[in-house]
Amino acid sequence: MRRRILAGNWKMNGDREEAMSLATEISGMVKDEYLGDSKIVLFPPFVHIHSIARLLEHSRISIGGQNCAAADSGAFTGEVSAKMLASCGAQYVIIGHSERRSYFNESSSDLTAKIMQALKAGLQVIYCVGETLEQREQTEHFNLVASQLRECLFHLSKDQWGHVVVAYEPVWAIGTGLTASPAQAQEMHAFIRQTIADHMGHELASEVSILYGGSCNESNATELFVLKDVDGGLIGGASLKSRSFVNILKQL
Ligand code: 13P
Repeated sequence: MRRRILAGNWKMNGDREEAMSLATEISGMVKDEYLGDSKIVLFPPFVHIHSIARLLEHSRISIGGQNCAAADSGAFTGEVSAKMLASCGAQYVIIGHSERRSYFNESSSDLTAKIMQALKAGLQVIYCVGETLEQREQTEHFNLVASQLRECLFHLSKDQWGHVVVAYEPVWAIGTGLTASPAQAQEMHAFIRQTIADHMGHELASEVSILYGGSCNESNATELFVLKDVDGGLIGGASLKSRSFVNILKQL
C-alpha cells in the first residue's frame, strides 16, 4: 500500500545510552506534537534494536534493521539474519544502501538473496537505489537505477511487492550537504515509478511508496515532500537529532 513514510537511518552512531535517549525523545515529541498519519520508522544499529523495540512497543513508531544476511542461518560469523531481526521486534529492513554496496561490495545477487530472506521473515523491505556523481555526469543515472530495480525486484510477485518500498538516494547527495533539486528528485522518482509500471503494471506501480534520501533536512524537506512521486524520506544525519527529525516529519 502506498503511504507516506519518514525513516531515520542512524547508521553506525550512538552507544546504548545515546540510542535510548534519542528514541525516547523522538517518541515523546511525536506523541505531543505530531497529528499526521505518516508511518515513522527508526533504524538503529543492530545491538539496540531489541531494547528500542520494547521501549517503543506502545508507540506508533516502528523499528528496522540497516541490513540483514543473505543466508538463513549457519557459519557466517558476524552476520545477523532477517529472522533474528524480526524476533527482536524489527518490522523493516534497509537493503542495498549505497554504503553497503560500495564499502561491503554487495552485489545484486547478494541483495536479491537478502530481499528474499527479509520477505520470508515477514519484514518490509526498503530497497535503495541511486547513482554516483560520475554516473550522473555521464547521463548513465537512468540506466543504472533501472538496472538496480530490474536485478533485484522484478522477479517478485505482486504480493511480495506489497512489502517493498523503494528509496532513491543519489550517492552524491548522501552526507554531503548537496541535495537533489526538486526537479532532479521528481524526474528520477517518476522514472522509477514508470520503470516499475513497465514491468509490473500501472496499478502496482501507483501503490509503491518511493522515498527520497540524501542530505534531506528541516530546510529542504517541504520542497521535496510536495513532489508528486515523493512519498517520504530516508533521513541520515538529520535523524540523529530528535528536534530535526520531528521537524522534518511535520513537513511530510
Ligand atoms: P544523509 O541524510 O546524512 O545524507 O544520509 C542519507 C542516507 O544515507 C539515509 O539512508
